Amino acid sequence: MTSAIACANANVALAKYWGKRDEALNLPATGSISVTLAGLETVARVAFIPDLPTDLVTFAGELAPPGEAGRLSRFVDLVRGQARTRARATVDIRSNFPVAAGLASSASTYAALARAATAAAGLPVSDTELSILARRGSGSACRSIFGGFVEWLRGTAADGSDSYAVPVAPADHWNVAVAVAVTARGPKAVGSREGMARAAELSRYYPAWVASQPADLDAIRQGIRDRDLALVGTTAEQNCLAMHAVALTAQPPLLYWNAATLAVMHRVRALREDGVDAYFTIDAGPQVKVLCPRPQRDAVAAALRAVEGVVDVLLSGPGEGVHLMEAT
Ligand code: PMV
Repeated sequence: MTSAIACANANVALAKYWGKRDEALNLPATGSISVTLAGLETVARVAFIPDLPTDLVTFAGELAPPGEAGRLSRFVDLVRGQARTRARATVDIRSNFPVAAGLASSASTYAALARAATAAAGLPVSDTELSILARRGSGSACRSIFGGFVEWLRGTAADGSDSYAVPVAPADHWNVAVAVAVTARGPKAVGSREGMARAAELSRYYPAWVASQPADLDAIRQGIRDRDLALVGTTAEQNCLAMHAVALTAQPPLLYWNAATLAVMHRVRALREDGVDAYFTIDAGPQVKVLCPRPQRDAVAAALRAVEGVVDVLLSGPGEGVHLMEAT
């Protein structure tokens, strides 16, 4: 095999990954649980070409900026190391959701790239090995290997061999939806890598965040199994606010929200008072993801669209894990 194409969905964490126990290997300080998002996908194409002098990395056919090209190329080095090849590669990454809108694409990018690059290199890998590999590119990418509801195990081994994602429940287990309220376009000011390093070192609340995560993981895991939206939603909201409390108390503080982010949070709480089972979560950026029962998703999306400052609402729900589209 010398070339392959793979597709992976983004994911959103209900119990967040925020802080590392090993920076170089992307080993998390705590476990996390996410839902893989249908339709928010990245396609990675990789071809190993013997005489190519350097990797050629493109985003939807356009030459990638040097920093990002270097990071993707160093990730392909991991695959080259495992496959014992020195061949350089062409790598093309394209996402169908607006990356410029500041929606995290690193999870779907590194999950798709891990699958495509190993297939193109002819390297046989299990889903667990793929999850460990994707984690090296971006921590949250290890969860996008699997569909539905997914837990990333913290692990204790120094080499990261026991820190990978496992399925909690498949995509069709639970009829829920995720509405993504886009409140700003353009890349976020402080990326998650720098953000979590700053927060871990410099927030006085970081030890409390780490200590409280196991109870949230237990509640969310159980809530998913029981299809208990109130339990999952309430815990996910608290977990998100705790993560942002850690970010807010870093030095200098990380304030990821804009006015519309806050307006959407208030709107979601008002929806709940009106009897709609909607719950928000927010990652290291200003967009708000809202979890609700699938039959209520159009009403929730309409309510979010009406909030001042919301520029778009994308509709999603539990989706499938990474898959190979082509290998030749
Ligand atoms: O995988 P990274 O390094 O992009 O970090 C993701 C961090 C959050 O999105 C804020 C939380 C999470 O668990 O996805």
